[in-house]
Amino acid sequence: MLRPATAADRTLLREATWVNVNHVADRLSHEDVDRNPQFAHYFDTFPADGDFGYVAEDGGRPVGVAWARCFAVADPGYGFWRADVPELSICVFGDRRGAGIGSALMGAVVAHARREGLPGLSLSVEDGNRARNLYLRHGFVPVGRDGNADTMVLTLG
Ligand SMILES: CC(C)(COP(=O)(O)OP(=O)(O)OC[C@H]1O[C@@H](n2cnc3c(N)ncnc32)[C@H](O)[C@@H]1OP(=O)(O)O)[C@@H](O)C(=O)NCCC(=O)NCCS
Repeated sequence: MLRPATAADRTLLREATWVNVNHVADRLSHEDVDRNPQFAHYFDTFPADGDFGYVAEDGGRPVGVAWARCFAVADPGYGFWRADVPELSICVFGDRRGAGIGSALMGAVVAHARREGLPGLSLSVEDGNRARNLYLRHGFVPVGRDGNADTMVLTLG
């Protein structure tokens, strides 16, 4: 079951951000993520104007989340493209991966963006992350490079 994400989900978004920054290797603790504004801004004030997201639940427990934040030029995320193009983050937890939950979340976020008439969505994906296939399938294309990651954009409307 998917439901919209709210401010009550900030702890969930914090956990998802922590998982995402450690997806290749254990690099950072929760405290490292909290202390670094470049990570903390993915969850700390959600939802600010224009932000939205969806939580996947199984038996009332969250198993994944996808959310979009509207970062400013002065405070960009890793996948920042333009201030009018929200940046997408997605995470499915542990052994729930590979069962279609991420695809369902991605579909919900893209449908929401279309309904709202947004010009697009952006994201960042590091080299070697299988998630790239998911993004390509949903129409995201690489538009820029930052270190060992691609910025990908889905153009809508
Ligand atoms: C990426 C992720 C959100 C996809 O969710 P999911 O529920 O596993 O996705 P689905 O079951 O719908 O599978 C669709 C695609 O997800 C990706 N995927 C599946 N299992 C994955 C895994 N264990 N790790 C990374 N990506 C995976 C693949 O692209 C897959 O398509 P493919 O089988 O054609 O390669 C999820 O695997 C995840 O949270 N991974 C770790 C964190 C992460 O990498 N987040 C994104 C940071 S850019």
